[in-house]
Amino acid sequence: MSKLTQRATSLQTLIMNPETILCHDNEQKYEGAVVPPIFQNSLFTFPDWETIENAFAAHQEHFIYSRGKNPTVDFAEKKIAEIAHAERAILFTSGMAAITAAILYCVKPNSHIITIKNVYGPTSNLMANYLKEKLNIETTFIYGDKVEEFRDNIRKNTVLIYLESPSSAVFGLQDLEAVALLAKENNIKTICDNTWATPLFQKPLDLGIDFEVHSVTKYLCGHSDLVAGVILGKEQEMKALFEREFKWLGGKIAPFEAWLLIRSLRTFPIRMQRHQENAMKVAQFLEQHPQIELVRYPGLPSFPQYELGKKQMSGYSGLLSFQLKTNDIEEIKTFYNALKMFHRGVSWGGFESLAYAPAISYLKELSPEQFANMGISLGDIRISVGLENAEDLIEDLRQAMHAKIKHRFYKIYTD
Ligand SMILES: Cc1ncc(COP(=O)(O)O)c(C=O)c1O
Repeated sequence: MSKLTQRATSLQTLIMNPETILCHDNEQKYEGAVVPPIFQNSLFTFPDWETIENAFAAHQEHFIYSRGKNPTVDFAEKKIAEIAHAERAILFTSGMAAITAAILYCVKPNSHIITIKNVYGPTSNLMANYLKEKLNIETTFIYGDKVEEFRDNIRKNTVLIYLESPSSAVFGLQDLEAVALLAKENNIKTICDNTWATPLFQKPLDLGIDFEVHSVTKYLCGHSDLVAGVILGKEQEMKALFEREFKWLGGKIAPFEAWLLIRSLRTFPIRMQRHQENAMKVAQFLEQHPQIELVRYPGLPSFPQYELGKKQMSGYSGLLSFQLKTNDIEEIKTFYNALKMFHRGVSWGGFESLAYAPAISYLKELSPEQFANMGISLGDIRISVGLENAEDLIEDLRQAMHAKIKHRFYKIYTD
């Protein structure tokens, strides 16, 4: 064993905190290179019949073909699994590929799913439309803030409870421990989309949830330069999932993207700390602003489920929303277009601050009443608070608010 390999192995015997795991953890075993190489190869070769035969016999432990295992992907998976307290992680080409694979693992034809009304849109469509058409699977959508609501909706054929806590639209929380317990009593599988809280601030698997899924595209990557997803869970089930939903559907992540992700993970804890600090400052500013009706941020004591959040999360990320005190679409547009620091765009979790108005997507399809039924209003603005200086971001929001007020006075004056 070389001295470098010895050092890498001895590191594994130390108990490490997330920051250390994400910076070191056995990376430097390739000639001492401080950053591990990208294994950009589709297949692996073997010296003889016997070695290839042995590799096939234990194919989940060996590198054979990169649609299965690849060393660069392996590095990234091990790091994410460690910080999430998972026995195993499997990376996918996108968050939706991971979500689809996890759901397909749990369901069967004619079965039933319970999920929340504000679950991520494509996940909702997958369950309500695609799975209904293809496999006759029924999905019940509930608010999900009370465990009794889950209990009341369990049917004989319920096989899955799919959670997203906090949800990325209105930040609704579900009591993960209580729902996991209820599901276990009824032999139902649970999946939690943990993208908002990240594996750093919330550990669904420790609370009894079977599978945790993420859009890695968001905070785990954090640099807005890759799209990826992950499923985390117990070894035995992940092994079964690897054989079928992973290998057969083929949604594997590319080695280069896994390598970018390893880069991202080194700064993940400090990035999350900064997102949290910035988001709290911005949320506090918005909360006291006279032009704001309401701020939705699980980290604010005024948030309706603040106590539940404190119980099951150890921190808060940077995605929040607020409601402008107006239903005048021209005024809302003026505010939105006046932002200078916040970019206008979808997605979230990157270094850059972003703003999005749900009215852009929904206005053409839904009436204001349907809009309100979803728990959002015309004046809602969702912001992803990035890593810039918080005071600069606040100043940007302040000046956009002034532009909105000026628009109102101009209208009153010219009407
Ligand atoms: C909460 C949530 N889950 C899952 C996804 C899907 O992830 P991806 O875009 O990486 O497929 C998203 C994407 O925005 C999301 O917001």
